[in-house]
Amino acid sequence: MSFTNESEKQRYYIDKCKEIIQNKEINLGRKMTACVVTFGCQMNFKDSEKLMGILCEIGYEASEDEHADLVLYNTCTVRENANLKIYGRLGYLSKIKEKNPDMIIGLCGCMMQESHVVVKIRKSYRFVDIIFGTHNVFLLAELLYNRLISGHKVEDIWDGTTEIVEALPSVRKYSFKSGVNIMYGCNNFCSYCIVPYVRGRERSRNPEDIIEEIRQLVSDGVVEVMLLGQNVNSYGKTLEHPLTFAQLLEKIEKIEGLERIRFMTSHPKDLSDELIEVMAKSKKICRQMHLPLQSGSSRLLKVMNRHYTKEQYLSLVEKLRKAIPDIGLTTDIIVGFPGETEEDFLETIDVVKKAGYDSAFTFIYSKRSGTPAAIMPNQVPEDVVKNRFDRLLNVVNKISKEKTILLEGSIQKVLVEEENRKIDGYVSGRLSNNSVVHFKAPLEYIGKIVNVCLKEAKGFYYMGEMVE
Ligand code: 5AD
Ligand code: SF4
Repeated sequence: MSFTNESEKQRYYIDKCKEIIQNKEINLGRKMTACVVTFGCQMNFKDSEKLMGILCEIGYEASEDEHADLVLYNTCTVRENANLKIYGRLGYLSKIKEKNPDMIIGLCGCMMQESHVVVKIRKSYRFVDIIFGTHNVFLLAELLYNRLISGHKVEDIWDGTTEIVEALPSVRKYSFKSGVNIMYGCNNFCSYCIVPYVRGRERSRNPEDIIEEIRQLVSDGVVEVMLLGQNVNSYGKTLEHPLTFAQLLEKIEKIEGLERIRFMTSHPKDLSDELIEVMAKSKKICRQMHLPLQSGSSRLLKVMNRHYTKEQYLSLVEKLRKAIPDIGLTTDIIVGFPGETEEDFLETIDVVKKAGYDSAFTFIYSKRSGTPAAIMPNQVPEDVVKNRFDRLLNVVNKISKEKTILLEGSIQKVLVEEENRKIDGYVSGRLSNNSVVHFKAPLEYIGKIVNVCLKEAKGFYYMGEMVE
């Protein structure tokens, strides 16, 4: 067979798989089901929607239950815990497969890009049928076809790629909001981080493809998009006709029917004045910025290869707050990076207090083999890290609480996202600054933007009341 492009080739394999699945269904007298489980970040979540899109085209019925005919784990490896979780869950899956030997188990995502992982799975988890990585997600139908035809294990891990395959199916968990990849990979090589090794070099999608995808989503009922990239502020640098992230945002802003634009993640070193200006005057870009700090110590930031100092970070925060006073600021912080002293840690606490984060994701440093930090001397003892982590969390929580109280009593625009699982008759939604509010409303409001009075700040969220 010859194909003019990759997506045409994959369509061919989708059709081939479809025939096989249809036959199996006739023999079994029931639908075949597939379950994709996502671990990790928004990027993986988005990849899983693409994977499920392909599986649904093939004819599988989407299921959330791991007692399915096909189970695919889309893995994460950013911290060691993520890997341990997968090994644990695989043990559980093997028990299910014992009862249904025809079940197909697949593994993909970041963890599969590490050769020691693949070796271990080959040796100790022989019941896994399909393994692929982050660069060839679009190959799922072809790999599945090979597995179905041969009955043998299929393994295909790429070291990297320059390819971006467009126009393949995808499903969406939410009908009214969607992630949109604007770039893949990362070139920053922060010394603790495994992402550049498992997600490869930075590649930006063409603006035309991004705009077309968003237009399509909007015509399908989407009102909010989350633009995704490891470092969105360096978007466009590698394009044939370079474009800045701020310029891309301006183009997206013009899409009629689109109400809200979010993005993540921003690297402080590349956050431009142009972006701040565009955000400040925008009607659609949400008042939210996720700006990972990692550490407040300029000395450690240098060893982390972050390319900014404590002072530069704080002046950026000041600039943002001046231009966009109602901005919700969130961050990522690592505690216990090799060589972190009490003084370094206190610098982090100082930045947390000065920046006034609405919320912060705090992580204990996890050694990732192959990264420069893994072989740095002075790894911090576990008890010291734990103690610092608890102290940091206390400060972060106290500040988040103070921040949420500031909006108590105000009326805010809220996108209603889902039924509240705890309180009957209630729904949950998000403000522009990404805070969550729970309030009473009929389910028909899901996907709509409504005015809500924030009656009571509860620390991380609000209890509210819808106003007409
Ligand atoms: N250990 C702990 N946290 C890490 N992160 C990335 N690598 C590591 C690591 N080795 C955190 C960073 C990043 C977030 C997604 O995960 O804070 O911003
Ligand atoms: Fe990892 Fe740094 Fe790239 Fe973020 S910017 S993915 S922390 S290397």
